[in-house]
Amino acid sequence: MTDRTMDDRSFAVAQALILETKKYWTTRLYPALKENYQHKASLQETPPQTVADVQALIGETTDYQVYAWLERHLQRFKYSGRYGLAPYHRERRDELLAPLAEMANSAGLDTDDNFEQPKYYRAVDIHQHPGGVWSAETAGFEYERGARSTTPMMGGKHRDLHQRFTDLVATGGTPSRVLDMGCGFGKSTQPFYETFGEARIDAIDLSQPCVTLGAWTAAQAQAQNTRFRQMSAFETDYKDEEFDLVTSTMLIHELPPPQIDRMFDESLRLLQSGGRMVHLDFHELPDVFSRFIHYGHGRRNNEPFMEPWAEMDVVTVLKEKGFKDVKVHSFSEAEGVDAINSPVWRFPWTVISAVKP
Ligand SMILES: C[S@@+](CC[C@H](N)C(=O)[O-])C[C@H]1O[C@@H](n2cnc3c(N)ncnc32)[C@H](O)[C@@H]1O
Repeated sequence: MTDRTMDDRSFAVAQALILETKKYWTTRLYPALKENYQHKASLQETPPQTVADVQALIGETTDYQVYAWLERHLQRFKYSGRYGLAPYHRERRDELLAPLAEMANSAGLDTDDNFEQPKYYRAVDIHQHPGGVWSAETAGFEYERGARSTTPMMGGKHRDLHQRFTDLVATGGTPSRVLDMGCGFGKSTQPFYETFGEARIDAIDLSQPCVTLGAWTAAQAQAQNTRFRQMSAFETDYKDEEFDLVTSTMLIHELPPPQIDRMFDESLRLLQSGGRMVHLDFHELPDVFSRFIHYGHGRRNNEPFMEPWAEMDVVTVLKEKGFKDVKVHSFSEAEGVDAINSPVWRFPWTVISAVKP
């Protein structure tokens, strides 16, 4: 057994403190900042028109500096602080990985020890996760624990966002062959294999630790219709027209624009005629203040492609590629939540869907 520097209780208490502080940031600091901004904007002859105008107006205020500092450093404490997710799980490596050994040679998992990661993926510790979601053997567990508080206002009171998204997809029909791109540890895949029990589902991600955990979780749930594979969304080995549904949740904003382009091309290639592509990501930003806040979030969370993705005219891009019925619309994080004018901080959840003619 590895020597431990952190007991379970101290870890749980520290993580709970971080989460409660994040809720304070979400429900108190964000509304105060917004109110302050609106007041300052109302005194301007011309209200801010661009993100740079918002920066000039409030970027140096104490409200914004404290807000931004807390966003950056709460995330840092969550992952790599004294009681962070990375040290906690890495100390417990052996016991965490032991159950996953049964996945070797399982039909539900396909990984490659010599897999070459794209440069953009290696270059940044996404989410401030030390080594990203892929390089440590325990990264899947770290990401799973971290993802429990990605949407701090949900608190288990609402139906899970991923299930609600799957329900929305189900309103368009029941698919028989599904590809979940950028599946992570399978949080987005799970409602698909539970909802579409008759479908054959493939879930792909670049991260070996994540797909391994996803496959193990699916095996525990007896989801024999599902397979997890280590593979890039913009370069798969599937044959043309293999799927009638290609989906992703929170993948697109992690891709550089040229790779987004390739991922859309790949989706078109993989879909049968009449097949659907439905993605959930962050895109619809109703005003310059939301845009300023979201771009800052991308920088503070080490997500460098958040901004170019939000700037992309995705409707035009998809139409030019030959997709039809292209739709882009906001998606509420939970029932009863105003996705566009939320009084508290929320992600700008957006559904991007299109059909192959
Ligand atoms: C924010 S996570 C979302 C995971 C999961 N879909 C969910 O909703 O919980 C984004 C995932 O995209 C993966 N990813 C990034 N680039 C990718 C690519 N080119 N191909 C496949 N997966 C990729 C990352 O490894 C990460 O697991």
